[in-house]
Amino acid sequence: MMEGLDETRIEGDPIKQFQLWFEQAIAAKLPMPDAMSLATVTPDGRPTARMVLLKQVDDEGFVFFTNYQSAKARQLEINPYAALVFYWPQLEQQVRVEGKVNKTSAEESSAYFKTRPRESQIGAWASPQSEVISAREVLEQRARELSEQYCDREIDCPVHWGGFRLKPDRIEFWTGRVGRLHDRLLYELQPDGTWTIKRLAP
Ligand SMILES: Cc1cc2nc3c(=O)[nH]c(=O)nc-3n(C[C@H](O)[C@H](O)[C@H](O)COP(=O)(O)O)c2cc1C
Repeated sequence: MMEGLDETRIEGDPIKQFQLWFEQAIAAKLPMPDAMSLATVTPDGRPTARMVLLKQVDDEGFVFFTNYQSAKARQLEINPYAALVFYWPQLEQQVRVEGKVNKTSAEESSAYFKTRPRESQIGAWASPQSEVISAREVLEQRARELSEQYCDREIDCPVHWGGFRLKPDRIEFWTGRVGRLHDRLLYELQPDGTWTIKRLAP
């Protein structure tokens, strides 16, 4: 059983607290500690969720990268509110993050794109994410053609590909405790930029 959450010992800034837990999850060699569920809402009010990878986290927020023509990106264009959930079972920890997203700058997206493996770069060009395709072969054919076309040349970041940064206004830390009396501490951003911390019943 993990150490609990104590209001008097927890960081006053939830991003710092997240970084602390995230570093512990990495140090514990958990499989994919950076995997997070991203929930968005469709224009008709239906929640929809999928996994994405956290690529950066700092005072500005939580960053993931995707196709700007994907279902999630289209939903975020219309309603920029989103929610993230991390779950690290071996540590009995969950983190829930809520807030509003903005696109990362083209420079930031392009800088990250450059660091990606070549196959992923080809994939970003080849795959019309979230669209119906007639067969897997169509995708493989496109990837082959692009590979030949680019040959050894550097692959540019597509304009339809880039990041979103979720700037949180609510972050909840959950940790498993004995007898199901789990700890939950909720940080809420106040209009003056400070965070309040409330304990919630498990
Ligand atoms: C562990 C894991 C990590 C993933 N990471 C990403 C990611 O960082 N970006 C992304 O666009 N899709 C990622 N995916 C795929 C998405 O879950 C999803 O299938 C895809 O983005 C299309 O979602 P959409 O149609 O709702 O836009 C990941 C899937 C898994 C299982």
